[in-house]
Amino acid sequence: MCGIIGFIGNDALAKILDGLELLEYRGYDSAGLAVRKEDETDTQIYKCQGRVSDLRKIIPNSDASFSCGIGHTRWATHGGVSDVNAHPHKSGKVTIVHNGIIENYALLKEEYELSDKLVSETDTEVVAALLNKFYDGNPKEAIKRTVKKLQGTFALVIMFDDIPNTIFAVRNVNPIVVAHGEGHAILASDPAAIYEYSKEYFVLDENVILTLEPSAYTVEDFDGNQVPVEFTKVDWDVTSTGKQGYPFYMAKEIDEQPSCIRRILSNYLINNDIDFGFNGELDKALKKYNRICIVACGTALHAGMVGAQLFKKWCGITAEVEMASEFIYSDTVLDENTLFIAVSQSGETIDTLEALNRAKEAGALCLAILNVRGSSMSRVADMSLYTDAGPEIAVASTKAYTTQLLMFYMIALKAGFLKGKISEDYLESAIKNLKQIPNAMAKVIEKKDDIHRLSKEVITCPDLFMVGRGLDYLVLMEGALKLKEISYIHSEAYAAGELKHGPIALISEGTPVIAAVTQTNLISKAISNVKEIKARGANVVLLAKNELKEDFSDEYHVIGLPDLEDVYMAFPEIVALQIYSYFVSADKGLDVDKPRNLAKVVTVE
Ligand code: M6R
Repeated sequence: MCGIIGFIGNDALAKILDGLELLEYRGYDSAGLAVRKEDETDTQIYKCQGRVSDLRKIIPNSDASFSCGIGHTRWATHGGVSDVNAHPHKSGKVTIVHNGIIENYALLKEEYELSDKLVSETDTEVVAALLNKFYDGNPKEAIKRTVKKLQGTFALVIMFDDIPNTIFAVRNVNPIVVAHGEGHAILASDPAAIYEYSKEYFVLDENVILTLEPSAYTVEDFDGNQVPVEFTKVDWDVTSTGKQGYPFYMAKEIDEQPSCIRRILSNYLINNDIDFGFNGELDKALKKYNRICIVACGTALHAGMVGAQLFKKWCGITAEVEMASEFIYSDTVLDENTLFIAVSQSGETIDTLEALNRAKEAGALCLAILNVRGSSMSRVADMSLYTDAGPEIAVASTKAYTTQLLMFYMIALKAGFLKGKISEDYLESAIKNLKQIPNAMAKVIEKKDDIHRLSKEVITCPDLFMVGRGLDYLVLMEGALKLKEISYIHSEAYAAGELKHGPIALISEGTPVIAAVTQTNLISKAISNVKEIKARGANVVLLAKNELKEDFSDEYHVIGLPDLEDVYMAFPEIVALQIYSYFVSADKGLDVDKPRNLAKVVTVE
């Protein structure tokens, strides 16, 4: 949560504003920046409640002579959404922006008698005041003394009035990435803001101090020793960033899915085999481990749930799936016989990261399925598989989900084969099926206008239910999350067979229901459940394979899906639900990419 940026170079004001726009998906209730000119001690601060577009409005001119600055987009934690609580915060000679939470801020305020120096309700301003109190001309000493007093998570980016053209940064848990180029230097809370400047960046280690200058950087530990940095290369096409004519990133990201899936398949399918690399280390683990624990949040959790189903189907083993936020406070037993799989688009979600740390400490072998290279989880996991879907900017996850799903399909198939549970012939035919997925998804995308027509019917509805059995139920859980997070329609997925045990009481005349019936062995049971809710007045849209469309279209509105083998239907099915949710939100006139109260990267517990 919260996007932070620091930039040194020509036209810093414009560069910071542009960077903040790219980081806005991390938090968008307020925005602010502080800029200064070379060799001037005067720091100008602009900040306000609202979006970066609102911040642009309060900046009097686009003065290109600023050479250094820091900026922030906020997702409020301590203190309400207001101009005064927006970052940067200034105390004396110190100006800072912060991502994270300082848990002991109230105690620090009291201990160092800072109250009369504060104007906001934020934990961040307490840090600014403490830094200023400790600052006597030696910035690193002040940072060190301050950080030693802080409890909590933080990425702090700091300027001192009397040190021109220099930005300092320090972090604990919350990420900072850094890039350096000809005459400019940039740091940010994630790589989205730096692609334009560099094809490589490094992730700042925890508890070291970064000093960033126009033509140099140093990284030192708290004892003053230089710390080496490791650069990560940006491996996706940076020209593919931006909305590229789409009204929202989500629409673009939905459409990108077939090519993302093709890219992963071409990376991992080699000579009719699934090859993960790692010199066979992952294969050995997949063969050996019979206890698998999958931990994630939100959409990534839903991908993990499908993964667990696949481990049952192809490996004959029961994988546990837990929400990271519950896992870290549960008594789940982990040991060296556990393969722990963390799933995360960002690789920064604090709960998942915390769970991964626990698993590592307990001796489990840790695999991470991630999209962002160099992210915190990649630095903890023993092995990381990358979905390489490119930057996902819309808060609602789409291409991250389908690429995570594909990873689980490949892992479970390979594990099943290595354990001797599926034959070589089966694996070969499964690989053929995997290769059909991109076209199946593309066919759904071609039919988006038909889905749009159906979605128009629900835009004023308060509730919508999704029902299905087996794999359909798991995919509908993700569909329901999509719809609720971007349209604010209350939507829930129910296992169709469970309806009679309570949820059917919610159905009345006209209640919209999306029912999925793509699993051949479950169709007759699922249809009986659909009839039960239809008999109670529900207005049902059916998601069914094209081969069955005719059979159902007299009775239901049907969204026909390409005919893949049942187990692969998750892919076209979720694309239909993503498109449906997207249009509901867009037709309601909402900001599809930045739903209220949410942020793309959740770095607070
Ligand atoms: O970056 P992560 O995959 O760890 O994020 C997990 C969730 O916060 C994320 O999937 C969230 O649920 C999305 N808004 C869903 O669209």
